[in-house]
Amino acid sequence: MTTAKKPLVIGNWKMNLDYVEAVHLGQQLGVMLKNKPAEHTDIVVAPPFVDIRSVTSIVESERIPMDVGAQHVSAHDNGAHTGEVSISMLKRLNVQWVLVGHSERRSMYAMTDEVVAATLRTVAKNGVKVVLCVGEALSVREEDGQNEFISAQLHSALEGLDENYRELVTVAYEPIWAIGTGLTASTEQVGEMTSHIRSVLFKLSLSEARVLYGGSVNGDNASSLVAESNVDGFLVGGASLKADSFMTIIQSCDECYDGKR
Ligand code: 13P
Repeated sequence: MTTAKKPLVIGNWKMNLDYVEAVHLGQQLGVMLKNKPAEHTDIVVAPPFVDIRSVTSIVESERIPMDVGAQHVSAHDNGAHTGEVSISMLKRLNVQWVLVGHSERRSMYAMTDEVVAATLRTVAKNGVKVVLCVGEALSVREEDGQNEFISAQLHSALEGLDENYRELVTVAYEPIWAIGTGLTASTEQVGEMTSHIRSVLFKLSLSEARVLYGGSVNGDNASSLVAESNVDGFLVGGASLKADSFMTIIQSCDECYDGKR
């Protein structure tokens, strides 16, 4: 981490934990953060939709220093969209962040680049922070096409974004081949891609956006990744489901930021 941007760690709980389990994990994190506060790191958890109200309730009542995010939202404001959830519904629950374009949405639920761009604008125009997820498949990396692929995803989602919305954007680089596979990208691969993403963001007048890495981040690899690869934090799947490992990742970012200031 060579920039002085405030680190950000987001736990994407994916389709795990019912509302009772979600409350339990939230409470565990609350106790741990009280005992050992993260002084510099912004923390977000993104539970499944049906858990959000329970998690925001305990975050608010127990004053846990973390925000609650959503994993997805409809690009539409309201109407006949069976099974979807709108941004105004999420705002009502005090959701402050939304992941947009996660590779699992893109590949399993046919979320196209156009829908990603429209969803990003729907979230931003409502004043909610957006985490734009980008990442290449293994076949793309094997042909060394990752830089062009990621540029295209960034351009298609962010080009022409109203300047008022720029401060709401974070980018998460999650190579598909590293998600849930235990195959973490090397610090070198993450570092190279982070620099590439920053150069594209600069051209898009988005230099202030934080750039996160996601893909098999855990308590063991977080500190070397954050220290050596120029990322501003992490988007964590599996390791965010356990309070211990999620806290270790948060502390790695916190300590690294402290050391580099
Ligand atoms: P894992 O950390 O389980 O690999 O998941 C990464 C991810 O997809 C977070 O959004």
